[in-house]
Amino acid sequence: MHPSLEPYTFPRTGLTTPNRTVLAAMTNKQSYADGRVSEDEIRWLEARSKGGFGIVTTAATHVLEDGQGWEGEFGTWSDQHLDGLGRLASSIKRHGAIGLAQLFHGGMRAPERLTGHQPKSASINSLGAGKGNSRAMTEEEIHEAIEAFGKAAKRCEQAGFHGVELHGAHGYLIAQFLGAGTNKRTDAWGGDQTARTRFLEAIVDEVRKCTTPNFLVGVRLSPELDSCGMTLEDSLHTLRLCGSMALDFLHVSCWDIEKTGALNGDVRPFTSIFREHLPSTMPLMTTGGIWTGDAAKRAMQQGGDFVGVARAGIAHPNWPSYLADGSEEPSRPPFTKEWLTDASLNETFIDYMRRWDGFVSD
Ligand SMILES: Cc1cc2nc3c(=O)[nH]c(=O)nc-3n(C[C@H](O)[C@H](O)[C@H](O)COP(=O)(O)O)c2cc1C
Repeated sequence: MHPSLEPYTFPRTGLTTPNRTVLAAMTNKQSYADGRVSEDEIRWLEARSKGGFGIVTTAATHVLEDGQGWEGEFGTWSDQHLDGLGRLASSIKRHGAIGLAQLFHGGMRAPERLTGHQPKSASINSLGAGKGNSRAMTEEEIHEAIEAFGKAAKRCEQAGFHGVELHGAHGYLIAQFLGAGTNKRTDAWGGDQTARTRFLEAIVDEVRKCTTPNFLVGVRLSPELDSCGMTLEDSLHTLRLCGSMALDFLHVSCWDIEKTGALNGDVRPFTSIFREHLPSTMPLMTTGGIWTGDAAKRAMQQGGDFVGVARAGIAHPNWPSYLADGSEEPSRPPFTKEWLTDASLNETFIDYMRRWDGFVSD
C-alpha cells in the first residue's frame, strides 16, 4: 500500500484519519458577500471528501468581518454563519474525511474595497506603491482579534468540524506578527522572535479555551517569507515554540517540496528541516507541487506524516485513488473549463484559476 494511504491516529485526541492525504486550504471565491457558505462551496469540498481525501481543509475563513481577504470568502465571524458551516461540516464528514476549517485574518491584506476600513496590521506597513499604509493595531484590537479566533473555532466545533488550522503562513495577520519586517512593535507583541510569536501563542491558548479537548488544532507556517521579513531561522524559532504549544499538527507550506533551505551550511528540503525541529510526537503536514504517487512518497521520506495537495486536488477530486492504483498518473494542467466544471468548480472559481499561470486551457 502507498504509505500515504495508511490511516493515522492523532496522539492527543485519538482521532483516526482514514489516510494521510490532505486537501490543502484553497480560497475559491464561491461563497456570499455576507460571509455565508454557498452550496457551490459545499459541493466543491464534498466532492474531495467523496474522492477519498483523509483530511479536507476549507478555504481560509476570516474570523472578524474586517479580516476578509478575498471576494466570495466565507466567514466564521458571526453566529449567522453557523447554519452554513454546519451543512459544510456534515457534507465533509458524510464520506469519512476529517474536516478542518482554516481560520485567518487578512490584516494588511484585507483590502479596504472589501471591508470598508483601512487595513490593520502589527505595525504601520506599506500596502504597495500608491496604496497607502496599514495602521498599527491597538492593544485592545489585538485582544479582540485573539478572542475572535477563539469564537470562530468554537463555532466550527459547534458546526461539526473536527478541528481548525490557524493560518500563520503566506503573509496574513498571524504572519505579519511573526515577521520582523511587518512587526516593528516595541510593546510585548514585538521585539525578538519569541515576542513576535506571542500573538500566535495567545490565539492557540484562546482556541483551546473555547473548544473541547477532542478538537484538533494545528498551525500552518511558511518556511521563509520575504513579504514579512521572516527568515528560515525565524520560522524555526517559531516552530520550536509551536512544539511546546497545545497543538495537534504543524503544516509547512513549501509551494514546492523540492525547495531547500540552508542551515549551518547544510542544504536540505524544508520538510526535513521542519521535521527535525519538532517533537517526534507532533505530526507534520507538507504541501507543494505534489502530483504523483512518487512525489507523495518523497514528501513522506522527507519527514512528512501527511501529504497535502492543492492544485492536483482541484483537477482531480479523487486524487488519492491515483495513489491506490499506481498504474496511472493524474493528468496535469492545462485543464479545460468543462473538465473543471465536472470537477465541481463553479464559473467564479474557474475564472479565478485563470490567474494561476497555465492552469485553465483557454
Ligand atoms: C486557488 C488556490 C487558493 C489557495 N488558497 C489558500 C488558502 O486559502 N490558504 C492557504 O493556506 N493556502 C492557499 N493556497 C496554497 C495551497 O494551499 C498550497 O499550499 C499551494 O497551492 C501549493 O500546493 P500545490 O502545488 O499542491 O498547489 C491556495 C492555492 C491555490 C491554488
